[in-house]
Amino acid sequence: MSEQTKPRLRSQLWWSNPDDPGMTALYMERYLNYGLTRAELQTGKPIIGIAQTGSDLAPCNRHHLALAQRVREGILQAGGIPFEFPVHPIQETGKRPTAALDRNLAYLGLVEILFGYPLDGVVLTTGCDKTTPACLMAAATVDIPAIVLSGGPMLDGHADGRLVGSGTVIWDARRRLAAGEIDTDAFMHIVSTSAPSIGHCNTMGTASSMNALAEALGMSLPGSAAIPAPYRERAQVAHATGARIVGMVWEDLKPSRIMTRAAFENAIVCASAIGASTNCPPHLNAIARHMGVPLDNADWDRIGYDVPLLVDMMPAGRHLGEAYYRAGGLPAVIAELRKAGRMHEGTLTVTGRTLGEDNAGARILDEEVIRPIARPLRDAAGFAVLSGNLFDSAIMKTSVISEEFRRRYLRRPGDEDALEGRAVVFEGPEDYHARINDPALGIDEDSILVIRHVGPLGYPGGAEVVNMLPPDALVRRGIEELPCIGDGRQSGTSGSPSILNASPEAATGGGLALLRTGDRIRIDLNKRSADMLVGNDELARRRKDLVLPGLIDQTPWQTLFRRHVGQLDGGMVLEEALRHQRIAAIHGVP
Ligand code: FES
Ligand code: MG
Repeated sequence: MSEQTKPRLRSQLWWSNPDDPGMTALYMERYLNYGLTRAELQTGKPIIGIAQTGSDLAPCNRHHLALAQRVREGILQAGGIPFEFPVHPIQETGKRPTAALDRNLAYLGLVEILFGYPLDGVVLTTGCDKTTPACLMAAATVDIPAIVLSGGPMLDGHADGRLVGSGTVIWDARRRLAAGEIDTDAFMHIVSTSAPSIGHCNTMGTASSMNALAEALGMSLPGSAAIPAPYRERAQVAHATGARIVGMVWEDLKPSRIMTRAAFENAIVCASAIGASTNCPPHLNAIARHMGVPLDNADWDRIGYDVPLLVDMMPAGRHLGEAYYRAGGLPAVIAELRKAGRMHEGTLTVTGRTLGEDNAGARILDEEVIRPIARPLRDAAGFAVLSGNLFDSAIMKTSVISEEFRRRYLRRPGDEDALEGRAVVFEGPEDYHARINDPALGIDEDSILVIRHVGPLGYPGGAEVVNMLPPDALVRRGIEELPCIGDGRQSGTSGSPSILNASPEAATGGGLALLRTGDRIRIDLNKRSADMLVGNDELARRRKDLVLPGLIDQTPWQTLFRRHVGQLDGGMVLEEALRHQRIAAIHGVP
């Protein structure tokens, strides 16, 4: 691009405004005090933010502190100027009451930074579950050139000669602890071995899933999502990402050109093929809505349900992140999906090329880990979206329905793909832990465990607690899972086929609030229905008598969050924030 044809950059409105030398000097002078020069800021070089999500509080993303050096070098070599700044930390495993509560807070903070400072483009460092959607939601709202650099998964964990995967091993080890097979020290040891290095969860939990979907959307360099955190390729792609964002600024390649409806449909298809986390529907719906692209749970069922499972990775399968990367990662998955005509190949990506062009040479390198589309691990492995008098919308991850679960609960004679049982209702995780082993509840194989008041309002952000372990006595008898339903979420690392994210949640008076222990519940997967078998008159009486428990805000943000947040089927976004879209172009700068 010649000097004449280069567009005037946003940052120059701060630092090279000939009409207002006074403000120009004020805006600029403090950025010189650590050694930057006027030439660097005033000669029209793209100013590139590095949105830093890593910190000591956020260990899954902490290595971004080091990777950022390679990003800076890439930016400088391509002719840009890097500015690294912190993003509100979101640590999935460390934040009380939930990390999900902070997704929208990090989103708001990042929007203000991207809009209010002289940034021409941004590298979004992502990794741990909510960091990816938070960053993409902000990039969608502000709509300046943006590129995702994920941190990559940890190395594969091993214990006693077996693979142990993040999170997934915890559910398994908890079962063994409950069954009395291991003690607490052995439990702690097994869990620690699942985290052998820097990086995010090495299973196909929410982190690996959301970073794969960022790549499927076209928002990160092809092949980058699966690279394990400690591998040299991770630092190399950090450099390439830094270099690429500078080109994107000159090409004015903004999120709104990349994250189109077709791109979101591609992401949904990939989600089914990789066996993605149950947190993906709310996160992707949230990103889409901030981008101004309509997307809801019905789209997930319609577009994604009949897509086969190709990736044999925990929790739906056997392997972990290193094997998945060596097998070809997302490009190999996309290559298979393309063969079946499942992808929109013409979507634009951060490379400036199409998704089809980006992945033209990709192929599977290990068919044990990534299956060819002709012989998938499962057919129809997407999310089933259910509705009925219990809720308007809830999801079920069908790729994790085990043969055992299917045989025990879904294959009743003459009643294919339906299950019926007696509800046992818990009012949140504390109540569950206090009462699950109470024999008076009479929990047996005919029971359906229900947990409520754990949705976005009830347990602010929505607690990952819907996958509930049966009472110890049942586990000892070999009944390791019961059907579970709830208005909360569950960890993406869980292999439980719970019915979750029920919207509207009980705390808003949704159908789940009317359910009582002892009611019969009927789920029909073919009909996509979920109902309590309670007459309408009785339900009307219960609604009249319904007293919802008061919600206690522990922090100012919880108060604001509860006042403005929507339900999980709508992405749990701050609904009023949707009034503000593509704000960099609309409002320009001060
Ligand atoms: Fe951070 Fe899983 S806990 S990625
Ligand atoms: Mg989680």
